[in-house]
Amino acid sequence: MVQHVGIIGAGQMGNGIAHVFAVAGYDVLLSDINEEALNKAKAKIEINLQRQVSKGLITADVAAAAQSRITTTTGLDGFGEVDLAIEAATENEQVKIAIFKELCPKLKPEAILATNTSSISITRLASTTDRPEKFIGLHFMNPVPVMKLVELIRGIATSEETYHTAEIFIEKIGKLTANSEDFPAFIVNRLLLPMINEAIYTLYEGVGSVESIDKAMRLGANHPMGPLQLADFIGLDTCLSIMQVLYEGLADTKYRPCPLLVKYVEAGWIGRKVGRGFYDYRGDEPVPTR
Ligand SMILES: NC(=O)c1ccc[n+]([C@@H]2O[C@H](COP(=O)([O-])OP(=O)(O)OC[C@H]3O[C@@H](n4cnc5c(N)ncnc54)[C@H](O)[C@@H]3O)[C@@H](O)[C@H]2O)c1
Repeated sequence: MVQHVGIIGAGQMGNGIAHVFAVAGYDVLLSDINEEALNKAKAKIEINLQRQVSKGLITADVAAAAQSRITTTTGLDGFGEVDLAIEAATENEQVKIAIFKELCPKLKPEAILATNTSSISITRLASTTDRPEKFIGLHFMNPVPVMKLVELIRGIATSEETYHTAEIFIEKIGKLTANSEDFPAFIVNRLLLPMINEAIYTLYEGVGSVESIDKAMRLGANHPMGPLQLADFIGLDTCLSIMQVLYEGLADTKYRPCPLLVKYVEAGWIGRKVGRGFYDYRGDEPVPTR
């Protein structure tokens, strides 16, 4: 029975995952190596809870109780208490492996270990832990409090019991699941990221401007957000990592990351989380950066 959830990484995804588990009544331990990220996460969770209250989705009491259930830490010491640990740190295989090495000896033997990776092999990550049969991919969507889906991905060694337990608690937090087999980027990002990468090629080749590409896809394909706006929202560093995993994992040049995406990441213009990506968010209204 999952009661206590630990989350490693308090960025865009970690704060959203903490939010939904706390609203559903779980005790949440949220960890990040960066104190500033934890402070930002707490502020973001408060804003998002208040937004849900003002929309009538939850009561003020539920929001206050949710906030009181979240504890933050810069270390991993409290993880001995958790029934489920979800790794939601930077999309980099070495970063994730280093976290698992430090985390596993602290976890209860029966604790389930999940990763929110967008693209990296669950089987390969599981093999670096002491519990491949209790390891699973739980791919939440951004923004977590709003998006209904969680992709469930089994590694080759994931037990049926782990899969079943994960499925039940995802239902308990009010989300729906889709099963994906363990192939690079799973289902959602196997389809979404090549589209975003192609939008960046469209910009790179001068087919359209930032605004015209986004407008074309919003009005012409009924996408709620243009692909470049969506890339900024995901984080261009994460988009690049996912394209690299697709490119290397499937060994097909059709997944080659667009050089312009690489350039934006090298510039540190990695999207909304830093105030600048394909758009500059630092003024009153987002404006294209070039
Ligand atoms: N952004 C999206 O739309 C999205 C959607 C689904 C899944 N994901 C996945 O979720 C994960 C996190 O993405 P994000 O968008 O929240 O990234 P982010 O850059 O907003 O946050 C990552 C956080 O991880 C922290 N971190 C880095 N190394 C750490 C360590 N060793 N220990 C603890 N914390 C550490 C960083 O300080 C940062 O706060 C990635 O695996 C990403 O692929 C992202």
